[in-house]
Amino acid sequence: MSNKFHFRCRQCNTIIDDWKSWFSNNQSCPKCGHKFVFTEYQQPIDSIKSLINDKNYTKPDFWRYFDFLPLNDRSNIISSGEGAIPVDRWTFLEDFARQKYGIQLEVYAYRNDLNNGTGTFKDVAASMAASVLKENGITDYCVASTGNIANAFAHYLAKAGINLSVFIPEDALKANEAEVNSYGQRVYRVKGDYAQAKKVAAQYSQKYNILMSIGNIDPIRVEAKKTMVFEWLRLMPKMPTVYIQALSGGTGPIAIDKAYHDLKGTGIVDKLPRFFMIQPHRCAPMTHGYRKSKLNNFPEGWLENYPIYENPVTAVPTLATGNPTTYPIIANLVRKSHGHMLEFSETAVPEVARLVAYQTLVRIGPASCIAVGGFFESLHHKKLNNGDVVLINIGEGVRRAPELMEQIIYTTQNISSVEETEKFQRKSLHKELWKPFLEFEKISIPENIHG
Ligand SMILES: Cc1ncc(COP(=O)(O)O)c(C=O)c1O
Ligand SMILES: [Zn+2]
Repeated sequence: MSNKFHFRCRQCNTIIDDWKSWFSNNQSCPKCGHKFVFTEYQQPIDSIKSLINDKNYTKPDFWRYFDFLPLNDRSNIISSGEGAIPVDRWTFLEDFARQKYGIQLEVYAYRNDLNNGTGTFKDVAASMAASVLKENGITDYCVASTGNIANAFAHYLAKAGINLSVFIPEDALKANEAEVNSYGQRVYRVKGDYAQAKKVAAQYSQKYNILMSIGNIDPIRVEAKKTMVFEWLRLMPKMPTVYIQALSGGTGPIAIDKAYHDLKGTGIVDKLPRFFMIQPHRCAPMTHGYRKSKLNNFPEGWLENYPIYENPVTAVPTLATGNPTTYPIIANLVRKSHGHMLEFSETAVPEVARLVAYQTLVRIGPASCIAVGGFFESLHHKKLNNGDVVLINIGEGVRRAPELMEQIIYTTQNISSVEETEKFQRKSLHKELWKPFLEFEKISIPENIHG
């Protein structure tokens, strides 16, 4: 038994002593079978302040929070330099909000594209997973993924010498598939959608008795991702009042809520940021469920009432969770935080990618474009207030989708002689790039019921 940490069932409060008990009980509560647990630590959370302020910790990773991560021995850490990424200020979005909507904001980008493992906000979860599996002598693992978890787990588990099989849906991006292959891990591309990939992965797990990642509520993922709140305390002049993220299953908000839960009573943080969860318009089941319940004043049983879309056809396969089993948890958090669920038009993804690259030189991936698009939707639907401190999770860079990089092409002119050229002025691109956002009503998704 470890005395550094244990798990507590969110449903019946039963304590689970350690990973061995958790894994041997099918990653669920031995008493009631619930799968959602919170990790608790012996060490009082107050000491987090000294970890946040520790100037001697100079490694570019999130393991500075080792005391509050569920691992016993530092020698088992598998890291590639993840989770200590910058928070950039994006004044071009502040200027836009002031000029077009007359509101004063501070806008920050949380640069998960700069994670050193595979360049997404899944890297911390995978670093945690590889370390925990190593410490517990686990040699084989499997996971179903829309793409980015697959890459991250492939990289980190390979580093730990662990065999990984990943189950991706039929429409997963080729770049994801290639990345997993490059680390020498097995890909099973499953005919069907993400729900089907999960089903086959679960059967594989049973057949070969191989441990399977339990998804968004997995304490491995939640504990790793909660450190983002500690990082904001370390890096940001003020904590965000609004957190914008592209939503698939929702590990992000679950983890942020867990961090705030742990920090309660310390005076270190105030209230949760408002969660603004953004889905691509062709796969937005959570948004549709939430909007309908909201219009009906959240009737009795509303958390169980959401649509399921089979085989969603979306331009952002990373976010293709058509059967959002975590809806009751996420919808509850969105409401509790006074947040919103919105959707953004997938067809405008290249416009967002171009604008951000022009303004900041940061080339963002499709899922990140949905998050930044959500910022524009939020302004358009008047969800942001004067004085808000907005943090947008840039969850991935463009390396994730070479096809998006090609769609960004817009300055090229095909010529056969110098006569067809003119003296180039970079500034001349500005107007065209901003046009879709100045005329946002043309691409905005109205707030009525879809689906
Ligand atoms: C870049 C990026 N953003 C957002 C998400 C959604 O993450 P979640 O809904 O699990 O928090 C994903 C999931 O794959 C992602 O890769
Ligand atoms: Zn229980």
